[in-house]
Amino acid sequence: MKPILNVALPKGRLGEKVYAMMEKAGFSCPAIYENNRKLIFENPEKGVRYFWVKPSDVAIYVERGTADIGIVGKDILLEYAPDVYELLDLNIGKCRMAVAAPKGFRDDQRRTLRVATKFSNIAARHYLSKGRDIDIIHLNGSIEVAPILGLSDVIVDIVETGTTLKENDLEVKETIVPISARLIANKASYKFQSDTIDYVTQSIASQVEETND
Ligand code: PRP
Repeated sequence: MKPILNVALPKGRLGEKVYAMMEKAGFSCPAIYENNRKLIFENPEKGVRYFWVKPSDVAIYVERGTADIGIVGKDILLEYAPDVYELLDLNIGKCRMAVAAPKGFRDDQRRTLRVATKFSNIAARHYLSKGRDIDIIHLNGSIEVAPILGLSDVIVDIVETGTTLKENDLEVKETIVPISARLIANKASYKFQSDTIDYVTQSIASQVEETND
């Protein structure tokens, strides 16, 4: 019997787009459209099982082998450096990691800079490379609130449309790195299911090219 390919999909629009690509690649699982509270869907005929997980957890499932492949933002790969193969840039889910601050903020180099972020490792590396002393304030969401209320001087966060910053009177000071969705694979799975995983990678790559044409 064909081994089942386990796929961790990030809950939300990005995951839905990727599922559509998987469907085109021949790994359909129609039940996925029927029930939007169920989290695990399987189509043994096509040899595939999907599960919807929190986007920031996809890499954990893949690293530990619960999922053979998954789709994750480059931000998560940079922050947590999971031990997985990064197979493909999907060129979707595009945004950037940036430093932002209240309009008119000027960095006073004599003081330690207070940085609020969900991405402590990315922020630490960024400021280390500049030789700037910082105090990291790790938050779990709504990062934009921190500098407005004086908890931090700046934030390191994801900027997509820029609307959240704008509506909170913040502005980008610096772009750290562009971000997009990546296809990742568990290292052992890639060894044992390389044909299937290569096939999926190529099929998604050609769909990515088409949409970029
Ligand atoms: C992300 C990010 C920003 C916002 C950026 O937040 O942390 O707050 O999206 O998007 P925009 O530039 O299009 O406005 P998310 O929705 O993930 O929520 P959270 O960080 O508060 O958990």
